[in-house]
Amino acid sequence: MEVTLRILRYNPETDQKPHYENYQIEAEPNDQVLDLLNRVKWHTDGTLSYRKSCAHGVCGSDAVRINGVNRLACKILVKDVGSKITVEPILGLPIKKDLIVDMEPFFEHYRSVMPYLVNDEPAPAEERYQTIEQRARFDDTTKCILCAACTTSCPSFWAKGQYVGPAAMVQAHRFSFDSRDRAGAERLKILNDRMG
Ligand code: FES
Repeated sequence: MEVTLRILRYNPETDQKPHYENYQIEAEPNDQVLDLLNRVKWHTDGTLSYRKSCAHGVCGSDAVRINGVNRLACKILVKDVGSKITVEPILGLPIKKDLIVDMEPFFEHYRSVMPYLVNDEPAPAEERYQTIEQRARFDDTTKCILCAACTTSCPSFWAKGQYVGPAAMVQAHRFSFDSRDRAGAERLKILNDRMG
């Protein structure tokens, strides 16, 4: 099938502002949108810039807007979105080039919630044991891959306030609900202070 791929392009060294470019390419229904970006870069325009690594939904580096919705380009197939596909950078972060955004504001929010285990008590002779039930309390929140797709769909994050956004809250939950951690109250205060 032939696909029309519309990509928001921006080169800060030559462009006044972002603009769209269209590419007609042959694709299979089971191709990932990431495959299409690769095809454009490898065969049509080597200057196209985007992030990718694992191509299997694990590393979180290829979050983009596909037909207006934040998604991982490697997780979305052509058959999921049809033959007219628009790819744009995720919103709320400065564009560095084409589909690559500056992730630093996102990671600043992430770091602000202390996304690590805090425990100043003397180390026990053996490991700090945890029951299956204690581990299960935060199992879901260990699965965030920090792609920023959720946070950059959030209008409160676009407003560039102190609001940390959903990804940072997930990280705060992951550590605050860990039976070995002692900084839950401190993280809660940070979240409260940064709600506005
Ligand atoms: Fe790693 Fe898509 S390239 S999540």
